[in-house]
Amino acid sequence: MPNIVVVGTQWGDEGKGKVVDLLAPHVNVVARFAGGNNAGHTVVVGREKYVLHTIPSGILHPGCRCVIGCGVVVDPGSLIEEMESLVQRGVTLDGNLFISKNAHLIMPYHPALDRASEAKLGKRRIGTTGKGVGPAYVDKAARAGIRMADLLNERLFREKLELNVAQKNRLLREIYDAQTFSVEEILNQYLRYAGWLAPYITDTALLLSRWIDNGYSVLFEGAQATMLDIDHGTYPYITSSSTTAGGAATGTGVPPTRLHGVLGVSKAYTTRVGAGPFPSEMAGPLAEAIRARGHEYGATTGRPRRCGWFDAIVGRYAARINGLDTVALTKLDVLDQCETVKVCVGYRYRGDILTEFPEDENVVTEAEPFYEEVEGWRAPTGGAKNEADLPAKARRYLERLEELIGVPFCLISTGAQREETILCENSPLLRWFPSVRSSLL
Ligand code: IMP
Repeated sequence: MPNIVVVGTQWGDEGKGKVVDLLAPHVNVVARFAGGNNAGHTVVVGREKYVLHTIPSGILHPGCRCVIGCGVVVDPGSLIEEMESLVQRGVTLDGNLFISKNAHLIMPYHPALDRASEAKLGKRRIGTTGKGVGPAYVDKAARAGIRMADLLNERLFREKLELNVAQKNRLLREIYDAQTFSVEEILNQYLRYAGWLAPYITDTALLLSRWIDNGYSVLFEGAQATMLDIDHGTYPYITSSSTTAGGAATGTGVPPTRLHGVLGVSKAYTTRVGAGPFPSEMAGPLAEAIRARGHEYGATTGRPRRCGWFDAIVGRYAARINGLDTVALTKLDVLDQCETVKVCVGYRYRGDILTEFPEDENVVTEAEPFYEEVEGWRAPTGGAKNEADLPAKARRYLERLEELIGVPFCLISTGAQREETILCENSPLLRWFPSVRSSLL
C-alpha cells in the first residue's frame, strides 16, 4: 500500500486540508510531520467548517488513524481545545489520535519570545503567526527543548522547566524588556495538560513502522509549504521547520525508502502571509478582488493574505525540491472572472532573465516578474465534473501550467466542498489509490 507525502508548493494555504480530506478515506493513517499551530487547515464537510491547527485533517474520517509526528511542535493548550471541539462535534479521538513522545512542546514563554523578537526586528520582522513556533524550534536545535515524553515525568519536567524559565526570564527581562514567567504556574498548568494528553502520547515512529509492515497506507500531511521551508524557502522569511517532502521522513521516523510518492498542492494563483519576497505579487484593486473572491484571510490569524499570479518558477522549483509526482491544483474558480490571466515564467534581474528560482535572498528581492498572459475564460468552472466540462481557455491555462512546471495534475479543485473536485484524466493518483475514481464521481 502506498505511502504518499502531501506538500504545499507555494507559501502555504494552497488547500492541503481539502486534498488530505479527499484522500483520507483511501488510506489507513494520516501523519503530520512539521510545523505547529501556526498552520490552519480548513475542511468543509457539507455545511460544517472545520479549521484544524495541529490535528491532521484525516481525523474527520472514522477509522483513519492520525499521528502527530516528532517534527511537529505542540502547544498543548491549543491542541486540547481542538480535541474538545472535535469531540463535541462527534469525532472519536480514542484509538485514532497518536502523539509522538519526541514532539517538542510549545511553552508559554515561546509565544512571548516570538512577539518580543518580532517587535525588536522592526522593518526586518518576519510577520510570524505569533504562536511561538520559531522559538520552540530554536530550543529544539539548542537541545534545551521539552518534549511530550517529559510531560509524563514530573521530576524531569520540573528540572527542565526550571532551567528554561531561568534562562528565558533573563532574556525577556534584559533583552526584550518583557514580562517574565513563574515555574510553578507553568508546572501546574502543564501537569493538568499531561493528565489530558497522556493516553495519546506514544512511540509513533514504532507504530508507523509496524503499521506499514502490516500493509497500512500512510498519507504524510505537510504544513506550511515549500517556500516557507527552513532550508529551501525564502530565508529568513520562512517558518522554522522542514516543510518539504524530506521532512516527512525526519518528522515521523519513517525512512525515505518506505515513501512511494509526493503530491504537491498549488493554488491556481499565489498567496503569501507575512513579510518577505513575492515576485509575482499583484497590487491594488486586482489583489483586493482576488482576496475577496478567494476569501484570502489567514485561517490562524485572520490576516489578509498577499495575492499574486501563479509563479511557474516557484512551481518548477517546488517540483525539483520535493520530487513531485503530481500536483493538485486548487481554487481555479477564483480566476473565473479575470479578463486576462498572467503566469510568471521568468524573473528579470539586472539585465538577465532567470528561469530557475534564485537561492540568494537579495536576488529574489530585486527580481522583477516576467509574465506570459492568457485570455481569461470568463465562465464559471465550479460544478464541472471532469476536465472536458471546463471552458476551453481554462483547460489551456491548466495545460500551460503543467507544461511550465513539468508535472502532471491529478486533481482540479473549483470550490471548498468535497464535491467541487475534478479528477484529471490519467490522474497519477489512480496509480496509488484506484478507489479515488469511484469516490469522486
Ligand atoms: P511562524 O511559522 O509563525 O514562525 O511564521 C513564519 C512565517 O511563516 C510567516 O510569514 C507566517 O505568515 C508564515 N506561516 C506560518 N504558518 C503558515 C501557514 O499555515 N500558512 C501560511 N503562512 C504561514
